[in-house]
Amino acid sequence: MTEKLPLVVLISGSGSNLQAIIDGAADDLPVEIRAVISNKADAYGLERARKAGIETRVLDHKEFSDRDSYDLALGDLIEEYQPGLVILAGFMRILTLALVGRFHGRMFNIHPSLLPKFRGLHTHERAIEAGERMHGASVHFVTEELDGGPLIIQAQVPVKTDDNPDTLAARVLKQEHILYPTAIRMFAEGSLRMEGDVACHHGSPLNSPIILNPDQAT
Ligand code: GRF
Repeated sequence: MTEKLPLVVLISGSGSNLQAIIDGAADDLPVEIRAVISNKADAYGLERARKAGIETRVLDHKEFSDRDSYDLALGDLIEEYQPGLVILAGFMRILTLALVGRFHGRMFNIHPSLLPKFRGLHTHERAIEAGERMHGASVHFVTEELDGGPLIIQAQVPVKTDDNPDTLAARVLKQEHILYPTAIRMFAEGSLRMEGDVACHHGSPLNSPIILNPDQAT
């Protein structure tokens, strides 16, 4: 049996991706969520964590004078739980280089676009405006470049002619809930690692991301 990988999950909002990981862990995903940390006390994801009996912590960025001091405290808080992997799941903060460096090779982010397209915010709206026919979500290792770390895996969805940002977001989010546990499983089972600055799968560099659902992309 694979030993369970200790996780710390960072959120700011609804936490539906967190829920997917909680549900996975209750099934056969070999992880133990040691804590859920939010920068917002009213994030609904904290409620989800409590319901699952997971320890929750709030570290409000408004109580810190600058980004460096917040990220230092956040890094210390994360390390209290000695995670093997840190999961950013809708954590709406730009991280300092110092924080990212502390968790190099063991921090994941999920982003609602087919990176490198549409880094940053409002990805669904921008994909529609750009006339994209395909859109989706990506999981990547976190580096100092915003939404720019080595890609691991992507899920694709079609953009429909009558889509608005909300309908498209809902279609993407459904895939995210499969995508994130899949990436976490690969890391937990040891097939995925960051070597230097390169994501490796079964020891070979991932020159392009794994595609979760190549046949659904029509
Ligand atoms: C997701 O779309 C994720 O890709 C982005 O933030 C959103 C979080 O949603 N980073 P939830 O809080 O997991 O429901």
